[in-house]
Amino acid sequence: MNLKPFPDSDRLTIENVSDASVTASTNDGSDVIAGLTQKPKSIPSYYLYDDRGSELFEQICELPEYYPTRTEAEILKDYGSAIAQTTGNCELIELGSGSSTKTRLLFDAYFGIASRLRYIPIDVSAGMLEASAKQLLADYPALEIHGLVGTYEQALQHLPSSPLSKRMVFFLGSSLGNFPPKQCQELFQQITASLNIGDYFLLGLDLQKSKDILEPAYNDSQGVTAEFNYNLLDHLNRRFNGNFNRNNFQHWTFYNSQQGQIETYLCSTKPQTVQLKDLNLTVEFEEGEPICTEISRKFDLGQMEQELAQQGLNVLKTWTDPQDWFALVLCEVKGT
Ligand code: AVI
Repeated sequence: MNLKPFPDSDRLTIENVSDASVTASTNDGSDVIAGLTQKPKSIPSYYLYDDRGSELFEQICELPEYYPTRTEAEILKDYGSAIAQTTGNCELIELGSGSSTKTRLLFDAYFGIASRLRYIPIDVSAGMLEASAKQLLADYPALEIHGLVGTYEQALQHLPSSPLSKRMVFFLGSSLGNFPPKQCQELFQQITASLNIGDYFLLGLDLQKSKDILEPAYNDSQGVTAEFNYNLLDHLNRRFNGNFNRNNFQHWTFYNSQQGQIETYLCSTKPQTVQLKDLNLTVEFEEGEPICTEISRKFDLGQMEQELAQQGLNVLKTWTDPQDWFALVLCEVKGT
């Protein structure tokens, strides 16, 4: 590596790359109006993640029923060094970095082959990004961070120039599962467009499995996932001056085996009218009527490997846990 030494104060840069016009169109509530005026009703799942929602999601990751986080961590612990050996030292770019907890396992592996690392976390939450970056810098003295605040699309178009010859974008936690297929394809296109031929993409995927394992993961015995779902209504109330009463909705989730996805809803327990004053929106609910708040797709590895190849992402190697519940897929950008 030919990086020059850099002082501590130079180790952190945070850049806001959000484009005001894009942010306005995603935050002005037009997507809430569209979702609540169609049938079946839906609300975009990113409204699950206000501060309280992000906190609840961190708690979900620790639940005994929610196997994805610990299973992916197990794969990273077992095979992190194999990943690092395959790619060699490269700039590490994380989509949706959040608290960057699992990222530490990758750092530990890459510090086995490199004396310094450059990390580009991408997240829409500036607060979360800054707090976790500062903690990481305190814990890893040879780490340099250039955080990008914005959507994946915005950030991938504004990657800073890199002193290293290779990059690896990584997307962990099976967050891809919350994207419908079309959005998934668009993301792959944005990733390949932002990288050079020979760069890498590491993808964490939750695999299809029995509904006896899947359903409790989204309906845990302590009710944390239900609370995460109800919190979305509190978030909408605060954000758009609404009067959703969470006590009049029921958390409902099931595995749709035909679609290969967990579907999560809030069902109205009685006929009711809800207003979101700032959106000038009045919504009528029938008894039992569902609002879809999230899908979590579960993947077939062979199918996904084919899809990646069609998008110019050549699968180099796939690692799974002993039960084949979760996979980490390492791809190389081959160009289209
Ligand atoms: C972030 N995402 C991958 C989680 C999932 O499993 O779909 C969000 C989540 N929703 C309920 N539990 C966890």
